[in-house]
Amino acid sequence: MPLDPGLVRGAHAFVFDAYGTLFDVHAAVARHAAAVGPEAARLSEIWRAKQLEYSWVLSLAGRYEPFWTLTERALDYAFARCPSVDRRVQRALLEAYRTLDAYPEAAEVLAALRRRGFRTGILSNGSPDMLASAIASAGLARLLDHVLSVDAVGVFKTSPRTYALITEAFGVDPAEVVLVSSNRWDAAGATAFGFRSVWVNRAGLPDEYDDLPPAATVRDLSALA
Ligand code: LAC
Repeated sequence: MPLDPGLVRGAHAFVFDAYGTLFDVHAAVARHAAAVGPEAARLSEIWRAKQLEYSWVLSLAGRYEPFWTLTERALDYAFARCPSVDRRVQRALLEAYRTLDAYPEAAEVLAALRRRGFRTGILSNGSPDMLASAIASAGLARLLDHVLSVDAVGVFKTSPRTYALITEAFGVDPAEVVLVSSNRWDAAGATAFGFRSVWVNRAGLPDEYDDLPPAATVRDLSALA
């Protein structure tokens, strides 16, 4: 179902979260599922959860490390929690994370938005090198006006300083930006900043952050085209 026209009226740019929204973060473990074994889903969940937790804890403590470093540390921790998994697959998983699969509809949705005259971009916690590699391997580079990494401000989402990278790069007011994220906490941060946020709820998760609602909730990216 297409988005309510009211949501996009007056919008200038559609900016996407990367990991979980354009790229499937569980694709790395899925690619090596046979080698990882029966704890594959658990390993992948812990890897993602810890990667995010580290980003929030460092930001609150006034510290910063590149997201790639947090990704490596989180995988290390996930291995420690899943002793049945052979550590020899660790390097292959990290390599796969640098070339994650984009969701199948991602490229066509970006192209369709640009045909309608919107500008497009990414704002991600991802460090510039890991983002560049994932974007290149998914063939999305030519469909994006700006690829913005929080690395430029040395703090992670949901700091308002990260969202300000978008208004600065596109030269627009927050109300002219549609921020698309599969992370409900990221949509909450975007709403708090004044963006129109769209929550991509692929897994059918319960809503949260009642005080910071998304402007719209969709099942996958195709609703944006
Ligand atoms: C990102 C993380 C939050 O791409 O998924 O910013």
